[in-house]
Amino acid sequence: MKNVLVTGGAGFIGSNFVRFLLEHEPEVRVINLDALTYAGSLENLQHLPDEGRHEFIHGDICDRALVEDVLRRFEVDTVVHFAAESHVDRSILGPGLFVQTNVVGTFTLLDSARLFWKERPDLLPGARFHHVSTDEVFGTLGPNDPPFNEQTPYAPNSPYSASKAASDHLARAYFHTYGLPVTISNCTNNYGPYQFPEKLIPLMVLNALEGKRLPVYGDGMQVRDWLYVEDHCEAIYRVLMQGRVGETYAIGGNNQPPNIEIVHTICAVMDELHPQGAPHERLIEYVTDRPGHDRRYAMAIDKIRSELGWQPRQTLASGLRKTVAWYLENPAWVAAIRERSDYQTWMQKNYAERGAKK
Ligand code: NAD
Ligand code: TYD
Repeated sequence: MKNVLVTGGAGFIGSNFVRFLLEHEPEVRVINLDALTYAGSLENLQHLPDEGRHEFIHGDICDRALVEDVLRRFEVDTVVHFAAESHVDRSILGPGLFVQTNVVGTFTLLDSARLFWKERPDLLPGARFHHVSTDEVFGTLGPNDPPFNEQTPYAPNSPYSASKAASDHLARAYFHTYGLPVTISNCTNNYGPYQFPEKLIPLMVLNALEGKRLPVYGDGMQVRDWLYVEDHCEAIYRVLMQGRVGETYAIGGNNQPPNIEIVHTICAVMDELHPQGAPHERLIEYVTDRPGHDRRYAMAIDKIRSELGWQPRQTLASGLRKTVAWYLENPAWVAAIRERSDYQTWMQKNYAERGAKK
């Protein structure tokens, strides 16, 4: 691993991964290709360790000429593909962009990498294309179903998860058909520093900070499996270093509380770290549910634990505390994100869709 192309490296998980890689691999150069959509921001890439080894390229993964040029120019031997449209609620209101970025974008990267490494067989023995995906491709679980694992059949329910499922299938097909050195990981919900506050945890933290309502969809009893973002970065790193080509690895947090419990925990941590607004629980408001809302996700992580020796380091309690503290300690980042017109527009649009539940 010498020249690593990270796509979507200005987003939440991608920027955490760029930081992780620069810290853990003192020799690699990171080439970060990101379109800087509403979800990507150069603010996420400030104060990187050893900044000189990080090259930022502002561009679209669907732009084939650009992708080919980047692969050649930087002699890329490793691709770690994060770039995506990632928010389920947005996919319901505007699915087209999800197909474009997640399906066409992934295809463009896979096909460009295939042709480039054919041109450069000297790079191929050490080459790797890692595709970052989600547990949402497996659909939803009933209350007593066993957790998802690498063998679970695909059953995506939202335009987001359907587009990610399509991209997983393309990645798999490029391994089987062309021998492209692909690995895939399907991970559960992440949380931590630099997450855009449209997703549950940062949205609740920042709304609580501003005394705004905390909108809980439906009955709040939906279950997600939460993983602290740095643990996800470490899991991907292990897959890159020791994972077997052609394999899929399920990654999860072993933390599966219902949403309402997460919101209560955030309120309790906020009461302690930011007592001015206490009790923050008074801000909780049940709102109209998301259409087609998946009820429960959970992931079995036996394979990555036994093959690669990975397991999460953070518990939900420790990870949530670190996360709330990070948002409180980084008001400049919060202000910059909040000031964006896109953020304001989205919050109004999403809230208008929901309103308070009768
Ligand atoms: P994010 O929305 O925070 O960031 C996505 C990044 O991709 C942004 O920087 C954006 O500018 C960039 N991007 C979007 N379209 C692009 C394009 N056409 N060309 C180049 N860059 C583009 O997403 P995230 O939460 O960091 O998720 C990263 C990846 O991890 C995604 O593939 C997502 O499906 C997957 N994933 C996320 C979670 C989660 O809980 N957030 C869980 C499992 C898997
Ligand atoms: P989210 O963070 O959007 O991730 P995903 O839909 O990919 O799991 O949502 C996590 C859970 O929280 C999901 O069940 C929807 C719910 N939710 C709310 O109750 N209120 C909110 O304001 C948001 C954004 C999500």
